[in-house]
Amino acid sequence: MARATTNLAIFSLIIFLSAAPIINSQEFSRKFSKREMGMKREKLSHLHFYFHDVLGGRNPTAVRVAQAATTSSYPYKFGEVLIIDDRLTVGPNLSSKVVGRAQGMYASADVSDAGLLMVFNFAFVEGRFNGSTLSVLGRNAVLSAAREMPIVGGSGVFRFARGYARTQTHLLDLKMGYAVEEYDVYVFHY
Ligand SMILES: *[C@@H]1O[C@H](CO)[C@@H](O)[C@H](O)[C@H]1NC(C)=O
Ligand SMILES: *[C@@H]1O[C@H](CO)[C@@H](O)[C@H](O)[C@H]1NC(C)=O
Repeated sequence: MARATTNLAIFSLIIFLSAAPIINSQEFSRKFSKREMGMKREKLSHLHFYFHDVLGGRNPTAVRVAQAATTSSYPYKFGEVLIIDDRLTVGPNLSSKVVGRAQGMYASADVSDAGLLMVFNFAFVEGRFNGSTLSVLGRNAVLSAAREMPIVGGSGVFRFARGYARTQTHLLDLKMGYAVEEYDVYVFHY
């Protein structure tokens, strides 16, 4: 009995030490093991969804917030900045099941070509990804058949994430101001 109690005490101490936060308030950094962090094997996930960029109509989810005085004199609106809160769905139809939103901005950052600077987060709401985000920072050559943008990080189940997103245009309606992009995201995470 006494032995079991001692074992339990040692076990508790190990648990306590392994979960110990920085104890010394003057300590700035320390080595930390992946095991302490509860990180096991790195996984590779593939996500597939459709991104709805709605600029027109009564409920746009992409709005222009800035441009340069000279923006209209460039072939691809150099200097234009849009803020987005675009819907992500499982199917290509806007009314199909929502899996998240793309929130952030994109800007025309190429004086002579169609090249957007994309800076946004995928904020997922579906299943085990609910509440988790992935951060995209990259160049989107919108007129190319297939484009690629880096995934530079994430939160929630996507902590320590890195990877890339491939995208192609599924539908483009310039009159309506509506574009649907098909996304394939490949991401390493724990
Ligand atoms: C999307 O779904 C709605 C409602 O189910 C339907 O009326 C519409 O035709 C669909 N659009 C496309 C492009 O399939
Ligand atoms: C996602 O999480 C939110 C907040 O915790 C919750 O209200 C919502 O029902 C969840 N959605 C799904 C699809 O699990």
